[in-house]
Amino acid sequence: MSTIFETTTIGRMEVQNRLVMAPMTRSRAEQDGTPGEQAAEYYAQRASVGLIVTEGTQPSDDGQGYLTTPGIYTDAHVAGWRKVTAAVHDKDGRIFFQLMHAGRMSHPDNTPHHRQGVAPSAIVPGAPMFTATGMQDIPLPRALATAEVRQTVQDFRFAARRAIEAGADGIEIHGANGYLVQQFIAPSANIRTDEYGGSIENRARFAIEVAKAISEEIGADRTAIRLSPGLAMWGIDEGIEGPDLYRYLVAELDKLGLAYVHIMHAGNEELLADIRKLWHQALILNRPGRLRDQIGADVASGVADLEAYGQMTLANPDFIERLKKNAPMNEADRNTFFGGTTKGYTDYPALADASIEMEAVR
Ligand SMILES: Cc1cc2nc3c(=O)[nH]c(=O)nc-3n(C[C@H](O)[C@H](O)[C@H](O)COP(=O)(O)O)c2cc1C
Repeated sequence: MSTIFETTTIGRMEVQNRLVMAPMTRSRAEQDGTPGEQAAEYYAQRASVGLIVTEGTQPSDDGQGYLTTPGIYTDAHVAGWRKVTAAVHDKDGRIFFQLMHAGRMSHPDNTPHHRQGVAPSAIVPGAPMFTATGMQDIPLPRALATAEVRQTVQDFRFAARRAIEAGADGIEIHGANGYLVQQFIAPSANIRTDEYGGSIENRARFAIEVAKAISEEIGADRTAIRLSPGLAMWGIDEGIEGPDLYRYLVAELDKLGLAYVHIMHAGNEELLADIRKLWHQALILNRPGRLRDQIGADVASGVADLEAYGQMTLANPDFIERLKKNAPMNEADRNTFFGGTTKGYTDYPALADASIEMEAVR
């Protein structure tokens, strides 16, 4: 039986435990997509997890959907991220960048270029989005031409190269949560008639091509993907063929020898068990809303090699120490998730600070 505090190997690197900081958008980057001043401190504070996966980071101008999210394609982005990776490595941490193309989950008010969002097909997600002037409906996206889909694959490849230049240990492709990759997968968002739409093979093609391009560029053992099979949000409906598409997709991705697959588990246990059998490298599992006393159960039972936690790592810079000491966890403050200052970002107290605070209260 494995425990979460044991080391393991992900691709070419050893990690100090089986706990992963799940990717979390914090919307605190500069207007040009350079990580904000506090980003290095924020990530370094959490470097004791086995692996940090960064917030979703756009691979190109068109990949941005939300306000002040970081990018990784300009020299300024590379210089900004270098400070983050250096701070994490100084504390012996490991960090993968999550490459996130938002696709149709984008509002022109949120980007410096103000262009219409791009997508597999011109279909609205039917969802509102936060903008500088409050919540607004997401407008109709523009369907990418076939040549533009191929260019988007190349944008991912370029961004992966830049991430490695910036000191990333690897790349996690954001294939989950209703963004561009999952928009290609879901027939509710993809009604294309070229080789990227229609059959299971065609709808899985974009994800596979992105994974192949990044693998060629930086090595398969530094390339990973996050998937959320069956997750129905923001107009995503994978239809009756959904589970079979994932069986096909995971088997094809497995042939590439990627570092890991990261499953954001939406509830289909049978499919999860099939993915476990089809996948021969590391499997990271994130079960949303997992309670404290269930941490470690999936690694112990062998369902997963590593477990990812979002809000608990956001709110507890010393998540690992608290688990080891069976100490109470800070609660995450939703009001400071996105944007703002150091509040709710770098100021969550670690245990020593917490006991000082308690002393003060007494
Ligand atoms: C503030 C916040 C931002 C998030 N941003 C991302 C993101 O950029 N990419 C992603 O794949 N998931 C994102 N997620 C989802 C988390 O990675 C995770 O799947 C989710 O929070 C459920 O896990 P938890 O219950 O452990 O928090 C975000 C979640 C939160 C709370």
